[in-house]
Amino acid sequence: MIRSWLFVPADSERKLVKGGESGADALILDLEDSVAASRRPVARGMVVDYLTAHTSRRPQLWVRINPLDTEGLTDAAAVVRAAPDGLVVPKVNGPDDLLRLSHWLDALEARDGLPAGNIKLLAVATETAAAVLRLSDYARVAVPRLAALTWGAEDLPADIGASTNQDAAGGYALTYRFARSACLLAAVAAKVQPIDTLEVDFRDEAALHAACADGRRQGFTGKIAIHPAQVAAINAGFRPTAEEVAHARRIVAAFDAAPGIGTVGLGGKMIDMPHLRQAQRVLAADAAFQD
Ligand code: COA
Ligand code: MG
Repeated sequence: MIRSWLFVPADSERKLVKGGESGADALILDLEDSVAASRRPVARGMVVDYLTAHTSRRPQLWVRINPLDTEGLTDAAAVVRAAPDGLVVPKVNGPDDLLRLSHWLDALEARDGLPAGNIKLLAVATETAAAVLRLSDYARVAVPRLAALTWGAEDLPADIGASTNQDAAGGYALTYRFARSACLLAAVAAKVQPIDTLEVDFRDEAALHAACADGRRQGFTGKIAIHPAQVAAINAGFRPTAEEVAHARRIVAAFDAAPGIGTVGLGGKMIDMPHLRQAQRVLAADAAFQD
């Protein structure tokens, strides 16, 4: 489980250093939108150097490649040799795109003598209208490398021809809230992590706390960061609270005390299998984040 995913422009020596010190669960070394096209060859070399110099892999090191129909293959071919933990794939139109990329990765892993299938994928799954409409495909097309889905509200308006992603009240317009919910459901159906989108205004701490709390309540298990100052709030926001852990322990104990029984009473409330599953999830998340 990866709670905080911090984007780091891959051509910035300084940000690569800062990113490593940020406490993020994963860094996303970016070769796409935060790097000017003319800097891409240099940035690819910097990614390889950084991956080669950091083999302990805490934080995990992921690389955002360019879209598959532009320079995605060139990026993947350059970085796979340094064995990133995973690739972040922008402007994905559905699981078929990811299967195509997976085949490329099979070949690149073989070329470089790496174990087959180790490099995982995080798909940015809502950047085009077609992609949003195809989100249900993730429920029926298995992509073994897929580890997480995330959504974005920055690129979709450009595809739609919308002037903004906001409604009159300043929140996300329905199209983007729909994309968010559909992404969440698609990730859960595909049994991968649903990752909530980034907060553009990285100085607004209150908004970040509220967004983390909302994301976690909805079922997201992590969130994108674009600035090191956002990492601590995300790590804390997506870790179960002490009360949640205590409550989960009570639920598990109540079932342990009643073997073979599917429904028990706890504090005057009916508790059944979905509650037990959720309690086990909370305890697993708590165990994963003993930091
Ligand atoms: N990763 C690592 N370090 C970062 C960082 C990031 N994403 N964002 C900022 N820092 C560093 C800065 O280099 C600076 O370090 P320094 O004091 O040693 O120079 C420190 O953190 C404070 O940065 P600050 O001055 O507050 O921000 P900034 O104006 O330098 O940068 C952004 C603002 C938005 C340009 C920057 O946060 C950034 O590049 N974010 C990632 C953008 C990205 O990857 N986008 C693609 C995904 S949407
Ligand atoms: Mg983008």
